[in-house]
Amino acid sequence: MKHILAAIVTVLALGAMFMVYQSDREVNKLEEIQKMIAKTQIKVKLDTGTQLVTQEAPVEKMSNADIEKEQAKKKKELDEKLQALKNKAGNVAAFSVSPLYKQKCSSCHGVNGEGIIGPKLVGLSAETVHKDLTDFKSGKRKNYVMYGLLSKMDESQMQALSDEIGSFEQKLKEQQQ
Ligand code: HEC
Repeated sequence: MKHILAAIVTVLALGAMFMVYQSDREVNKLEEIQKMIAKTQIKVKLDTGTQLVTQEAPVEKMSNADIEKEQAKKKKELDEKLQALKNKAGNVAAFSVSPLYKQKCSSCHGVNGEGIIGPKLVGLSAETVHKDLTDFKSGKRKNYVMYGLLSKMDESQMQALSDEIGSFEQKLKEQQQ
């Protein structure tokens, strides 16, 4: 009887030991899996790290001179587009004009005499302009708009405007240099 009991206890003890050993292995497995996960995380980090480096590389390859060249090109393109827009709008002054011209004439002839509704005035001499204005005012040259504008204008203003418009071409040339 004692022997049988001892045998059962031994078997139970062996069984328990085996179970402990098994669970130990499970724990070890779990630890290993965790280690593997940790490793892959490090690898992923390294991978993204390398990616960043490869993305930066082309930028680093561009020398300062290249960048400046590129910027200058972009700026030139932008300036040209802007100039085209300005020309189209025809309302950006290259040189400043008298308040009288700005008020009474620029709306039709442009801020610098480039012409909008009214013809282009740049290139006309002071004498030509003065003759045109005199003729409009007297009715010798018939134009309702110009007549209406000039009917109340005195000779000194007409002369001043003629002289000013006569200088537009020269002023424009100076601006463009
Ligand atoms: C409301 C629009 C308008 C305004 C403002 C105006 N003009 Fe005119 N102007 C015209 C038109 C339109 C003509 C063309 C008339 C024609 O050929 O019969 C003209 C013609 C002229 C001409 C003749 C140009 C040429 O080559 O034949 C001169 C010079 C002139 N204007 C000067 C002026 C001056 C200076 C002012 C400001 C005091 C002025 N204009 C204001 C519309 C205007």
